[in-house]
Formats: sequence, C-alpha cells, structure tokens
Amino acid sequence: MTLSLARMAVEVLTTAEGRAKTALSRAHAARWRASRAEGAAVIPVGTATPPDKPARPDRPELAQPRDVPRRKPGTPEGRIALLHAVAHIELNAVDLHWDIIARFSTSPLPMGFFDDWVSAADDEAKHFNLMADCLNAVGSHYGALPAHAGMWRAAEETAGDLMARLAVVPMVLEARGLDVTPGMIEVFRRAGATDAVTALETIYSEEVAHVAFGSKWFNFLCGRRDLDPKPAFHDLVRRHFHGNLKPPFNVEKRADAGLPPDFYWPLTEDV
Ligand SMILES: [Fe+2]
Ligand SMILES: [Fe+2]
Repeated sequence: MTLSLARMAVEVLTTAEGRAKTALSRAHAARWRASRAEGAAVIPVGTATPPDKPARPDRPELAQPRDVPRRKPGTPEGRIALLHAVAHIELNAVDLHWDIIARFSTSPLPMGFFDDWVSAADDEAKHFNLMADCLNAVGSHYGALPAHAGMWRAAEETAGDLMARLAVVPMVLEARGLDVTPGMIEVFRRAGATDAVTALETIYSEEVAHVAFGSKWFNFLCGRRDLDPKPAFHDLVRRHFHGNLKPPFNVEKRADAGLPPDFYWPLTEDV
C-alpha cells in the first residue's frame, strides 16, 4: 500500500534522532517528487493527525533561553555554540514543514502547496546535516550542548489556523533568519572556517524560497477569503507571535521573498 504524504509527514515527526529524521525527510521528499513527476498523484496527500510535539532525541538537553550559555563568537567554543544553535533551528524547521503538511491535510489546498512544503522540508533536512557535519568536523556533535526549549511554541500557537501558521513561521521566523545569517557567515569567514561559510551560504540562499512560499500561500488564502493581506498579516502576527519584530531587516532578501517593508515595519512597534 502506498503511504500517503500526510502519513509520511507523521513518520518524520515521530522519528526522534536527528540524522534518522533528516534521512527520512529526504527520502520521503524524493518519493513525493518522483510521484509528481509521473504526472499524476500516485501518492495521495491523504490525511493524518500529527503529534502535538514532534519526537526529539534525548540530547540536546532543552533549556530556557536564559539558561543556554552565552556565546562569544570570537572563540572556537563560541563558533561551536553557534553551529549547534543553527542545527537545532534546522531540525525544528524539518518538523515545522512536515507539520504544516499533516496538520492542514484536511484543508482543500492546491497540490502546489504540498510541493512547496515538501521541498522546504527537504532543504531543512539538508541544512541540519550540513550543520551536524560542521560540528563533527570540529570534534563536536548535535546534542553536545543545551538548546532552546521554546522552539515548538510557534507551531502550538498556530496549530488551529493555517493563515496564522504562514504569517508566524515562514513570514516572521524564517524571515528573521534572512536578517541574521549574513552576520553569522561573517563570524566564520573571519575565523577562516570555509566549510561553515559554504554551508551557511547554502542555507542563506535556500531560505529565501521558504519565506516566499509563506507569502505566496498567505496571499493565496487572502484572495480566497477576500481579505486585504497587509492588515490580515498584522492582525495574525499580533495575536499569535509574542513580542515585536526587531530591526535591522534584510530589506533586499525580504523583498525577494515577497515581503515588502510595510508588512514588517509596523510590527516593530507596540499598538
Ligand atoms: Fe533551513
Ligand atoms: Fe527554512
């Protein structure tokens, strides 16, 4: 029997170990792409209920942000901490993209919606592996340090509303990645860590598409519901995301991803 896409998503979400999760993410993405290339949906989207929280390995130990040791990026330990933090974000992103597929599999959506998030989930699996490889190359590994405990909060906050999910996850959180990644690349460039520079440049270039998928499907759903996208975005972010957005913004990459300044600037201020 062919496993539906939604069941594949749940398989990834219920796999705990990082490399095993990313291997399954990549294999399922390849199966979906091959099926779609045949011109008909050999693999159905199907429906499935994702877990409230995805399975995660025993390590890293999850800690509140204030208890995660401060990083000094000028030191080798600081650079390991930075790679570790990005690996943690990427593993969470693998789960976020499979979660959107399973959680909203009962919504009537075009196949392109599922194609985009499968592609993003494949990218995130590659990104986790790149970061895990960089950690291994300097004698560390994912799980060696404590990591941020609050990563699944955005998924929980938006589990009942696809437009809120798109507004908060790709259009706020992944867009934030576009703002901060160039500074990170600079840290590794100054240290002569060329493998990490190359890996982070791959991540940086591929993340633009994830933000673009978010704004594309957000605008699509606004059109379907006859909503004005900008006020709808502001309203959903204010209700489902805690705290204001923080400049500086990567205006150019955000524009590439379909996010104009009048979407995010008003969210830097309290109302
Ligand atoms: Fe990523
Ligand atoms: Fe991403």
